[in-house]
Amino acid sequence: MKTQSSHSRRNFIKTSALAAAGAINLVALDWNGAVAAGTGLRESNFSGDDGAFKLAALPYAYNALEPFIDAKTMEVHYSKHHQGYVDKLNAAIEKSPELKGRSLEALLANIEQLPEGTRNAVRNQGGGHWNHTFFWQVIGPKAEQQPSGKLKDAMIAKWESFDKFKEEFSKAGMGVFGSGWVWMVTDNNGKLSIVTTPNQDNTLMDISKDKGKPVLGIDVWEHAYYLKHQNKRADYLADIWNVVNWKKVAELYG
Ligand SMILES: [Fe+2]
Repeated sequence: MKTQSSHSRRNFIKTSALAAAGAINLVALDWNGAVAAGTGLRESNFSGDDGAFKLAALPYAYNALEPFIDAKTMEVHYSKHHQGYVDKLNAAIEKSPELKGRSLEALLANIEQLPEGTRNAVRNQGGGHWNHTFFWQVIGPKAEQQPSGKLKDAMIAKWESFDKFKEEFSKAGMGVFGSGWVWMVTDNNGKLSIVTTPNQDNTLMDISKDKGKPVLGIDVWEHAYYLKHQNKRADYLADIWNVVNWKKVAELYG
């Protein structure tokens, strides 16, 4: 009888947990009080046909950003750091099967709703996966040096000049204590701003103080520059302007 009773209890706990899990209602990405049209990155950038998260191919060779970002940094950053976020995210999802098949962006927009045991892993590893996937897209070789079109107009409206924007953006990047990211984000009205996030947080997360759709994001973790620039983050942030893919940034801005 005792065995049966503990068995029933285990089943009850299991059923309750599943019921609770089923109740997780992940809302669509939402910033600035209105549902927006997504970030411009496709889900196939983040996961494969089997639903597991995956590392998409780097859109250029490791040495393509030389001399501004060296090949070794790119190799380690992409194949070790980014791959590590993907692997750990998949391992976390294995422990919460009710989250399998959810889009990465839906998970990030609902960190607070996630089961306690998985929440931090999705925040850190899922944030790392999203942020790096995005980063590889907004930098690139033979980049156009200046923004153009609607994006340029919005940037001038906000910062008066491209140089002033770069100055403010670099200053914000220098102000990140420890590891994190500096972003240019837009709200649903196309209004731009510069914000920073700690660690692997980003502005799509419900828990982020600043919200917005990222259109440019630069990694200021030491692993992004230490091999070439050592402790000189300012030099890395000066070099980065040579590899920002303004065409992609303009496309993301819409
Ligand atoms: Fe990184």
